Amino acid sequence: MQQFRTLNTRGAIEMCSYQLKQWFYVKRPNEFVGREHYELRESDFSPQLSKNEVLIKSEYISVDPYMRIQQAATHSWEPPHPLNTVQGAVVVAKVLESNNDNFQPGDWVTGYIGWQTHAVVHGNELQTLDPEQADIKTALGILGMPGRTAWFGLMEAGKPKPGETVLVSGAAGAVGSLVTQFAIKAGCRVVGIAGSEEKCEWLKTLGVDVYFDNVGGMITDAALTSLNLRARVVICGQISQYNGGLDTPEVGPRFLHQLLYKRVSVHGILARDFTHRMAEMIEHVAPWVKAGEIEFKSTEVCGFEYLPDTLAGLFEGQNIGKAIVRVV
Ligand SMILES: NC(=O)c1ccc[n+]([C@@H]2O[C@H](COP(=O)([O-])OP(=O)(O)OC[C@H]3O[C@@H](n4cnc5c(N)ncnc54)[C@H](OP(=O)(O)O)[C@@H]3O)[C@@H](O)[C@H]2O)c1
Repeated sequence: MQQFRTLNTRGAIEMCSYQLKQWFYVKRPNEFVGREHYELRESDFSPQLSKNEVLIKSEYISVDPYMRIQQAATHSWEPPHPLNTVQGAVVVAKVLESNNDNFQPGDWVTGYIGWQTHAVVHGNELQTLDPEQADIKTALGILGMPGRTAWFGLMEAGKPKPGETVLVSGAAGAVGSLVTQFAIKAGCRVVGIAGSEEKCEWLKTLGVDVYFDNVGGMITDAALTSLNLRARVVICGQISQYNGGLDTPEVGPRFLHQLLYKRVSVHGILARDFTHRMAEMIEHVAPWVKAGEIEFKSTEVCGFEYLPDTLAGLFEGQNIGKAIVRVV
């Protein structure tokens, strides 16, 4: 980061100037998202903070599959991401300047700041992170939105019981890798599906009580034929459908009669429905993280300029665990 201080005629420091970089989302993708749907804009930035505002510098930026859902032309749980605005994202950042009593320069914070190196935000938009308690990057993963998704999705919708079999698609990803570990903690037998190998034949040999679905498509078609009586299916994500399939849905084999025969319940879950219960999740999970009983795995890409490529990489299976971009 380049930083300049300007002096007034008496030599006192007047304001700081920073080099601001921002990735603007400028073009809606029809199929796969890539660099061509974004524009990198750079400018000098001399912020003047109003009361309760904080200037932060992003250090780690999240890249998530939901970004592609928001890029579809149709309404999901919210309207499409507007064009010509900074790509929304959660970041882990450091406070540079503060006009808010709750934040001091040097504090670590997290918030929904977007793909930008710096931002001036009201303190209410930030949560403080304690690096003594946990690696600050966990705020983008196990102690953040993916952790909340995995925990409440499995516990509230999956209702795992000891001895049951939990099948997880996208099992090596940010959410899937946590679901597998939470299910083991719950005393379940866990089977994970990851990578591009054809697993359908093998899947037929399983009897599944909880299917935690991150990917949809043919993997789910296969999983539905392997469900036990009164199984629970948790629809967390359908990543195989995001690149084109959201606006013109793929029509594939349908096995819904299996849900009838086996009296299966299907439950769609959304992380934001559990935001108010974040403390409950952290109370359970943070001690496991601190004790090293649950591994938080991440794939870290170095360089702000690689944000769009890292997003595209999610749809090619380039990440193991949480995909994070480090701002350098
Ligand atoms: N409901 C919610 O609130 C919520 C919250 C967070 C995430 N999600 C959803 O949960 C899923 C996982 O999200 P995440 O953040 O944990 O991402 P992630 O799993 O870390 O990254 C995406 C992974 O998906 C797999 N994948 C990509 N394209 C695929 C395809 N066409 N078919 C099958 N697998 C494919 C790849 O793994 P492999 O190479 O191993 O297949 C890739 O590494 C996504 O569908 C996401 O939208 C939902």
